[in-house]
Amino acid sequence: MSEKNLTFKFCDQVVKDFEHVVKHPIVGKSSVYYTGVDLGTACVVLAVVDENYKPVAGAYKYADVVRDGMVVDYIGAINIVREMKHEIEEKLGTELIYGAAAIPPGTDELDSGAVKNVVQAAGFELTSVLDEPTAANKVLRIKNGAVVDIGGGTTGISILKDGKVVYIADEPTGGTQFSLVVSGAYKMPFAEAELYKRNPENHKDLLPVLKPVVEKIASIINQHIKGYDVQEISLVGGTCCLTGIETIIEKKTGIFTHKPENPMFVTPLGIALSCTQESI
Ligand SMILES: Nc1ncnc2c1ncn2[C@@H]1O[C@H](COP(=O)(O)OP(=O)(O)OP(=O)(O)O)[C@@H](O)[C@H]1O
Ligand SMILES: [Mg+2]
Repeated sequence: MSEKNLTFKFCDQVVKDFEHVVKHPIVGKSSVYYTGVDLGTACVVLAVVDENYKPVAGAYKYADVVRDGMVVDYIGAINIVREMKHEIEEKLGTELIYGAAAIPPGTDELDSGAVKNVVQAAGFELTSVLDEPTAANKVLRIKNGAVVDIGGGTTGISILKDGKVVYIADEPTGGTQFSLVVSGAYKMPFAEAELYKRNPENHKDLLPVLKPVVEKIASIINQHIKGYDVQEISLVGGTCCLTGIETIIEKKTGIFTHKPENPMFVTPLGIALSCTQESI
């Protein structure tokens, strides 16, 4: 029997539940709530789970407070996280105390201080900071293979062996480059191109236009997995919502490549699942 994880059953269910509670929060009697804060280049996501680590609420906002994985607008980032925290607290009728965060792999020495400070300044007791693909794997539950998180600004790669992370890397290529390519090809302002790209109805036409930049990401993946026995690539991150991206990456890497139904909220949910009641 193949060891490959052919479906992402747990992941697809958790993400579906999360999408539902973003619109319809579950107001209940949980003894504690855990929040995952994903400060992304393109999108800031808060995912809230209850005492049983089931999604109960969430919010996301496109924002420009982080670039290439680094916090560039510190005050803006604090304000957004604080606002989103308040918004969810009002919906749930409770205070969100515990928060966890993630940073792109390998940037801890450069920037994890800033991410930590943002989450704390927004009013959370910070309980953990982990790297993004490792967070994603708390939801994907891959034992062997590569988890590739293609976000707005960066592509994070982590390689797993027997359930343990053996290699992590981060490269500054992501969805923003995709939007720049669309903007150039269709002579659209960047903001318009960004929205055009996100519309699944446009994906069929966009795929050939975006093929070179997807192939660039595939060659980045190839460089990093060289020397490791990777038989499966699992794609997460908003950029992987692009229909057909997995086919191009599979062709270029020669490795079985797949993605969950909605790759966008996997990392923030994984961050929430790693949140505890122990401040760091
Ligand atoms: N339906 C979609 N189709 C194509 N791209 C999409 C879609 N939805 C979101 N994206 C793209 O996904 C990116 C955002 O993904 P994500 O939220 O994972 O990034 P991030 O965490 O903010 O960035 P990073 O991890 O690089 O800091 C944006 O570039 C956005 O345009
Ligand atoms: Mg991200």
